[in-house]
Amino acid sequence: MTLFDLADRRGVRVPTSCDRKGTCHECVVEVQEGSGDLTPRTPAESFLRDPYRLACQARAAAGEVRFAPLSRKPRILTGSTIAETGPDPPRPGYGAAMDLGTTTVVLEVVALESGRAVYQASFENPQRFGGSDIMNRISYDGKCPGELHKAAIGAVNRELKQACAALSIDRHEIGEMVVAGNSTMRDLFFGLDVQPIGQRPYKSVVEEEYRAGKRATTALLEPAHRLGLWMHPKAEVYGAPLIASHVGADTTACLAAIGMESLAGTVMLVDVGTNTEVVLKHEGRLYAASCPAGPAFEGGHVKYGMPGVEGAIESLRWNGAGWDFTVIGGAAPEGICGSGLIDLLAELRRHNLMTPMGVFGGRAREVTIVPDRGITLSREDASNLAQAKAANVCGQQIVMRHAGVAASGIGRLYLAGAFANYIGVRNAIEIGFLAPVPEERIVKVGNAAVAGARRLLCSRPNRAALEQLVKKVEHIELETTPDFFDVFVEGCQFKPMTE
Ligand code: FES
Repeated sequence: MTLFDLADRRGVRVPTSCDRKGTCHECVVEVQEGSGDLTPRTPAESFLRDPYRLACQARAAAGEVRFAPLSRKPRILTGSTIAETGPDPPRPGYGAAMDLGTTTVVLEVVALESGRAVYQASFENPQRFGGSDIMNRISYDGKCPGELHKAAIGAVNRELKQACAALSIDRHEIGEMVVAGNSTMRDLFFGLDVQPIGQRPYKSVVEEEYRAGKRATTALLEPAHRLGLWMHPKAEVYGAPLIASHVGADTTACLAAIGMESLAGTVMLVDVGTNTEVVLKHEGRLYAASCPAGPAFEGGHVKYGMPGVEGAIESLRWNGAGWDFTVIGGAAPEGICGSGLIDLLAELRRHNLMTPMGVFGGRAREVTIVPDRGITLSREDASNLAQAKAANVCGQQIVMRHAGVAASGIGRLYLAGAFANYIGVRNAIEIGFLAPVPEERIVKVGNAAVAGARRLLCSRPNRAALEQLVKKVEHIELETTPDFFDVFVEGCQFKPMTE
């Protein structure tokens, strides 16, 4: 019996578009238990490594096998506080706006007449079999070119088909698409070679061509039929422009969402994620940097860390004798997500249970958070979180120093991204995760990238304005800044960021 048959029996939906022949590569599943009881890989599975298999190829010879398709649906932040703007000009028909993230994808179908999203889907990026972070995906694409592109297109097509069915429209009515996403995700989607983004000087093929004068913009435009998308074959697919290196089309879409080009005063955008991007506008000049913070605040490299899904502790308080906390979904706690980790670190500092260097009281190896569930935070966890925090410090502090502005001089700080949306701002400032900008000037904008993609979809003038704005941004390479190392070391301490 194949894993596909087993899935049928268990009522689990596995995607396919090749009639289970091993050619579409859509039926990838993650084997969680019993991989030893499966038949060896077939040639059709040569592009996959453990623990991933094709459900139509792997057969369970005996024993109990636990597996899950890659299309899980975790809690994904789809909304934004950005106000909707009307289309310019109103047009008939529909378009699609997408934020293609390394981990999660948000796709909207928008009525171009009103500029409103009439359908929204969010799902995990199905490229997980190629690794969880950008660098892994790049190296995977070097070994198995085209597989990640195919996985993303397949997943987007499945959602577009569902959208057409739900809205009772024909695919020919979807006449345009705008794609936001980091440089690697955007270029993989457009079928471009991403190898140069993974090696020094980390410039994509598009950026190289733009700098060499071979392109007028870093934005992309392709007909849908060339990418094999389920929409009007002649529909235009627009990839938002990128700034440089890893500061990609997700960041520029956020700039479009907040309307950076027309904002007055000193404004900073911080898009927090596995890679944190910072863009600062000061005295008419624009600066940007990207810092690889890693997955510690998203559940990686922390023993009881986990993403913001059901069962994650999302907020914490020390009550003098133990911990009070809230859990997503009200379930029994299984671990702690990013917002909970920020609270935990701030409370440990506030009550002198941990030094700024991350040493626990009594030099203990760990602190216990939920005794009956065995949930703890170890010295090693604290040190991994310190390093992730330090990367965020480097991004914000070096950009501010470069521009010659202190945190108190920032008129507005826009916080974008799912994780940033749930954090307690005061705690984040106290442990030095965020620059000490007065709290009332901080605005959480949620998933600004998809809101920006929607704006770009609805307005050609917005696209032209963004392309012009992006050309003015100075990209700061953090690692080559002379005081990078000093800022990083200082940033590892759990204390407010120095001005
Ligand atoms: S169903 Fe197409 S490859 Fe398995």
